[in-house]
Amino acid sequence: MSTDALFPPLTDENAAELERFGKLLTKVRPLKGKFREHLKYDIRDMSRGLTSERSKRRKEYMTDDKFLSPYLHYFLPWNLYRMSRLFTGLELDIPEGGHVADLGSGPLTAILALWMARPHLRERELSFTCLDLAPKAMQIGLDLFRAMAGEDSPWRIKTVKAGFMDRLHDRADLLIAANAFNELDWSGRTARPQAEKIAGHLAASASDTGRVLIIETGVRLTGRIIAELRAKLMETGFKPIAPCPHDGECPMPALSQASPWCHFNFSTKSVPAWLEKLSGEARLTKDNATMNFLYLSRAGSTGWGAVRAVSEPFKLHGNKGQYACSDRGLTLIEYGPGTRPLAPGASFAPVWPAKPKTDLKSKALILPFRQRDEK
Ligand SMILES: C[S@@+](CC[C@H](N)C(=O)[O-])C[C@H]1O[C@@H](n2cnc3c(N)ncnc32)[C@H](O)[C@@H]1O
Repeated sequence: MSTDALFPPLTDENAAELERFGKLLTKVRPLKGKFREHLKYDIRDMSRGLTSERSKRRKEYMTDDKFLSPYLHYFLPWNLYRMSRLFTGLELDIPEGGHVADLGSGPLTAILALWMARPHLRERELSFTCLDLAPKAMQIGLDLFRAMAGEDSPWRIKTVKAGFMDRLHDRADLLIAANAFNELDWSGRTARPQAEKIAGHLAASASDTGRVLIIETGVRLTGRIIAELRAKLMETGFKPIAPCPHDGECPMPALSQASPWCHFNFSTKSVPAWLEKLSGEARLTKDNATMNFLYLSRAGSTGWGAVRAVSEPFKLHGNKGQYACSDRGLTLIEYGPGTRPLAPGASFAPVWPAKPKTDLKSKALILPFRQRDEK
């Protein structure tokens, strides 16, 4: 059976660009003496701040050198790795003359990753509008882009000090918001009206054929944010292209601590050696990268009844099981003895039993994994 991978391994060229990026960083943003010495502690502090202590963070933290250095040397390259994996597997094209807008752009992470991961776009005349509250981070991103792509790149990049909801001058063919909306307060009753407001703004900012790509950190809260935005964007007429294999209700909306949330883990194979070393120094070594995302357009993708593997495989009745998403809702793929489970993110054409059983614990529909040509 053929399966479609969402996060294919990096191409050699993409891996080489990430390796080279370490050198560009030290050129554009050198860290000398005690600042380099202290980097691992700043990374650790910021990592804590981005998770447990986020309420204490100031809105403009990206302009503060204490945060900017660890972001540039650690979080930015990890995000480049995660986005490179995503962009490699996503059906992602931007027409000649197209306009891309990036909300909460920081050091232009998404633009740098697009250039690295999609070489077919490098020679196109594209314009980019990057919005953030922190102009300094965007300026460094621009310097990094120039060092990476060269002064002759046909990409025209405009940076604007602005909030997520500020009006774009021109509607975008691709609208990206990466690791951005989790900066807002989603607690309590604010979540739904906020999602509605953002969805309305995104829909109005995308051209008629425009696409919206929301990338998030892969934690439960961002699963919830994405599920809310998905529902509200669908009310404006948008439909998912990926990862959802259907445009029904999301079966993994992170509604409670016990309920599943849509996110994907993938290996950190071919992460550049310099980044692995720095992560080790900060005692933040990873064997897995995590992400959740949502990619939509008004046309959506054709629902052909695919099933998308979502969770990591786990032990199930002596064999393996894996949670998945389908147009029938939450699905539990049941693997037979000796069958290798799919990588999270892979999708395939299922052979459903006439009357699928329901898993008592999760209420998922059970799908025994069977090759299409198996009788
Ligand atoms: C975690 S960083 C993500 C940067 C980049 N997109 C990435 O993926 O690496 C979040 C960014 O959102 C910006 N930000 C936070 N609140 C914002 C708002 N209300 N409007 C615009 N930008 C905002 C911050 O300044 C920061 O640069």
